[in-house]
Amino acid sequence: MTEWTRHDLLNIRDLSREEIELVLETAKSFQEVSRRDVKKVPALRGKTVVLLFFEPSTRTRISFELAAKRLSADTLSVTAGGSSVSKGESLLDTAKNIEAMNVDLIVVRHAASGAPKIIADALGPSVINAGDGCQAHPTQALLDLFTVKERLGRIEGLKVGIIGDILHSRVARSNLWGFTKLGAKVTLCGPPTLMPRDVEQLGVRVTYDLKEVVAQSDVLMVLRLQKERQQDKYLPSIREYARLFGINKEKLKSAKKELLVLHPGPINRGVEISADVADGEHSVILEQVTNGVAVRMAVLYLLLGTKSKADGEEKDGSAVS
Ligand code: CP
Repeated sequence: MTEWTRHDLLNIRDLSREEIELVLETAKSFQEVSRRDVKKVPALRGKTVVLLFFEPSTRTRISFELAAKRLSADTLSVTAGGSSVSKGESLLDTAKNIEAMNVDLIVVRHAASGAPKIIADALGPSVINAGDGCQAHPTQALLDLFTVKERLGRIEGLKVGIIGDILHSRVARSNLWGFTKLGAKVTLCGPPTLMPRDVEQLGVRVTYDLKEVVAQSDVLMVLRLQKERQQDKYLPSIREYARLFGINKEKLKSAKKELLVLHPGPINRGVEISADVADGEHSVILEQVTNGVAVRMAVLYLLLGTKSKADGEEKDGSAVS
């Protein structure tokens, strides 16, 4: 069995297929903890996890906090507005001050691509990238893989369509690495202005024909239309985008019966996805959120729990006891 040796989780691109599978297997073992009356195991007792979120987040921040707490770690949250960054302190100085208080792991979300790596390179604690700019969102891709594997029993050989604003999507980038590494065939579809140039070189297919992707896919991952990009004139209008690329019941008429519809959230109902699809029989959007806790427990445990063992600390039997 593969051993986890990494100090940080910054990118899915860095992980081997075996490492991704180890995260998914570990997440499976943590899944039932959240279904217990007492949702807690002692695996990370005595560890301190800091959530350094410099961009808004609902799902990622809350599920990291729940994951850490369910592993018995101490947690604290830092936001840009509530920290001395608002008084002009640099990101790195803020992170170094947090490190000086002997924390074990820092979860970083930042609007600038590469910010988590800068912190990881400069500091001793482990760092998890919780979404940086347009670059990567590795735990989102891991929870998406976990959700699909739970539902369909495999990733190998599946046809996965990723729909929407690929150009600005860290979720799309992390998922295309994750799904292709595990043997799925990934097709990207969206307006030509929102498609990265030469992206086919990463082993994916590009089409602008949404009908074709819907008909052939086992999994459709619908991305949020980043309305804040509208001012950059990538699209004639949001209404036009919804008409051409928005996923609604009508467009799913040709879909496979077993099709899974994923969305990382937050969703814009009536823009990239209609309410009847978001809440419909194909949707696993809230299962993604539920699974996010188990997957983040797995990542925290692999980064910190195994280190405790190496340090010779007393453990309480298995991770989930
Ligand atoms: N999927 C995701 O990253 O959602 P949040 O921005 O709410 O964390």
